[in-house]
Amino acid sequence: MNVKNFIVSFCSLSLISITSMGQNTLTFDPTKFIVQSQEFQGKTVKVRAFEKVVYVANPADIVHEVMNVYIPEEYFNGEIINGYTAQTAPIFFPNKVGGYMPAQPDIFISNPQQGRDMGGPPSLSIVMALSKGYVVASAGARGRISPIGKAPAGIVDLKAAVRYLKFNDKLMAGDANKIISNGTSAGGAMSTLLGATGNHPDYEPYLKAVGAANATDDIFAVSAYCPIINLENADMAYEWQFNKIHTYKGRGGEGTLNEIAIKVSDELKKAFPQYVNGLNLKDKQGKKIILNENGEGNFKELVMSYIIASAQKALDAGIDLSTHSFLKIENKRVLSLDFDAYLTYMERMKTPPAFDALDNSSPENQLFGTASRDKRHFTNYAMQKTSSDASMMADKLQVKMMNPMNYIGDKSAKISTYWRIRHGAKDRDTGFAVPVILATTLQNKGFKTDFALPWDVPHSGDYDLEELFIWIKELK
Ligand code: DHB
Repeated sequence: MNVKNFIVSFCSLSLISITSMGQNTLTFDPTKFIVQSQEFQGKTVKVRAFEKVVYVANPADIVHEVMNVYIPEEYFNGEIINGYTAQTAPIFFPNKVGGYMPAQPDIFISNPQQGRDMGGPPSLSIVMALSKGYVVASAGARGRISPIGKAPAGIVDLKAAVRYLKFNDKLMAGDANKIISNGTSAGGAMSTLLGATGNHPDYEPYLKAVGAANATDDIFAVSAYCPIINLENADMAYEWQFNKIHTYKGRGGEGTLNEIAIKVSDELKKAFPQYVNGLNLKDKQGKKIILNENGEGNFKELVMSYIIASAQKALDAGIDLSTHSFLKIENKRVLSLDFDAYLTYMERMKTPPAFDALDNSSPENQLFGTASRDKRHFTNYAMQKTSSDASMMADKLQVKMMNPMNYIGDKSAKISTYWRIRHGAKDRDTGFAVPVILATTLQNKGFKTDFALPWDVPHSGDYDLEELFIWIKELK
């Protein structure tokens, strides 16, 4: 919006804020900012910083249900940045969710006074987005360690933040119809959920409970790095990939699978083809993508084709791949991949089941707890094999609401048109099948999906921001 409207709107709306004192107003206050600046790539990035804006009327968690909004100063002088104006600038919406834990909003300039659950410096993505003329809004969200942070609290919070931005679109620079989410791992999962579940009625009671603004929550585009999604099928996907690898090296330690674990792996691997075949995925020629009962078939070829394409891109960029005997390279072409040898090189990280741990010890078990029961199972397999008689199963709807796969194709969801999904070719936090299934489902349904497994990249995000912003700039 232009500055004149901005002032007029503010004068009328400030009255509303005053009359609703005592409870949190959902009206953006354009006067509550500080000016911040930093040097970036030889340029001064100067912004108005609106920090710790509570984005729900009935916050359950005042520390995390807050959002930081940064607006390039130029937009208050009617200037143009990178072809965008105050009215047209898309809103970059990064989250700092990791491990399904509570997350603070991301920040532009580090502030030692600000307690941050995730620690670490401000993300590069924010200053880069601002330097390229995007408005930035980063929302915090509740997470699994808190009794009030169990699923679907985190995604409900982020949807409420989107509603706040849309509700206040006329009061804020930036176009709230052009929200682009970004996140990594559990945060990548949140990003895909924002893209897949726009305005879906499943979330409505939860949004009402937190007092979300009266607006829609569909978003324009999704950027997701290594999204940890499809949790109710991810155990099978992991064992389909790593079944033959009996040693593991994880964050919590390393070891060798015992006989029981190997049996669990065999059973989960065996169950995977039925899941894949039921998805009715199609390749580019329209041929059904399947796996036979041994886990072989064109689905495996598809997964391998992404790794081969990744190696080819690395080779084209001048990276020496000659030491990798699992790749067959001739005349600068990557001809084939020995998948088993590649997996030995990658190493297994998690023990089976990778997500729904039989002893309820995984982050995901805690995600699917309740206020009174911290951890629950979320797959029939783990529930049957659980090591404790006291184990309980999560509610079906709670599990459904954390998986974007359950909404792509649901007519009640407004799904983002544009998707960019990256999963490192050396990422072992979930199986390759998980992002391949997401990308293929989106492509089959006509959503514009840019998907790749960048070479040698482990579990991480934001490693190719220049490319990300080139992609964003081309979205129409
Ligand atoms: C994350 C990593 C995991 O391995 C997992 O199971 C869940 C979340 C993360 O990095 O956010």
